[in-house]
Amino acid sequence: MPPYAFFHKQFMPLSEAKIGILTHALHYGTACFDGIRGNWDGEQERFCLFRVEDHYKRLLDGCRLLKIKLPYSLDELCQLTIELVKRSGYREDVYIRPLAYKSSETIGVRLHDLEDDFLIIVTTLPAYLSNRGARCRTSSWRRVDDTMIPARGKICGIYVNSALAKTEAWEDGFDEAILLTHDGHAAEGSGENIFIVSNGKLVTPSPSDNILLGITRDTVIKLAKNELGIDTVERQVDRSELYLAEECFLTGTAAHIAPVVEIDHRAIGTGGIGPITMKLQKLFAEVILGRNPKYSEWYAFLSLTLNLIQGSEVKGLKG
Ligand SMILES: Cc1ncc(COP(=O)(O)O)c(C=O)c1O
Repeated sequence: MPPYAFFHKQFMPLSEAKIGILTHALHYGTACFDGIRGNWDGEQERFCLFRVEDHYKRLLDGCRLLKIKLPYSLDELCQLTIELVKRSGYREDVYIRPLAYKSSETIGVRLHDLEDDFLIIVTTLPAYLSNRGARCRTSSWRRVDDTMIPARGKICGIYVNSALAKTEAWEDGFDEAILLTHDGHAAEGSGENIFIVSNGKLVTPSPSDNILLGITRDTVIKLAKNELGIDTVERQVDRSELYLAEECFLTGTAAHIAPVVEIDHRAIGTGGIGPITMKLQKLFAEVILGRNPKYSEWYAFLSLTLNLIQGSEVKGLKG
């Protein structure tokens, strides 16, 4: 099945969606994006689009930071996404990539006096990080600060910071990089938030540690509290706390919950996947398929056999 796109207000195969080489966002990174999972449940013959509305709320926040005006409401963005998945014909897990960007074909770095455009791509995504446990290094690149480019937006230009760190880690034989803030506290992975287990509690860097406010991060905090009775402390995390953690894992839409078994050549905990990480992985796997009715507000179902779309809290989704 080839990837499919919504581009210039039309649905089309990705191969037909092209932009001009002077497009502002291509030169200056003046765009923001999101990543949404459509999880295929073969038993139920349906997709569960997970927290689609929350992903678009974050995208709209990014648009505000970049002064991008979209001609669509939150509901319309959700509806377009469902329609795109439906038209793509996939019957497997999909990854949805909306992108809002400065589309003027012009030279000159700025945010004002430029046209905006919006596209969505639906494609598949192979496993992002190994389920068996990632070996990480702390990056020599520091996480970009809110005073430089706001990390709470998924702003395209900011991903050069992530790319530098990821490739440095990969070239040194690691699976993933952990970026520290300018003052040396843990921020996050190149495309994931980070958690440690310390004294049986979850600890994760706070929003003011230049992290992206991950939707998987929020999901894990809620599942840990509601299902396992485990609180999460959001606070500054020292690098040495990572080394001494009982468990460590990364979270993200692409990576799911990825255990970290080693950081900077030091085994984390026993060097295997910890018990709390394992429990959370199991809960998470159920919830992203839409199988836990407690969290129905997180699900938008697209049932292909019935040609039916249901969104519990996602308003305006019609078949
Ligand atoms: C830098 C960064 N941090 C964290 C995350 C995790 O965010 P989410 O769980 O919303 O996918 C991502 C993924 O989008 C990311 O790119």
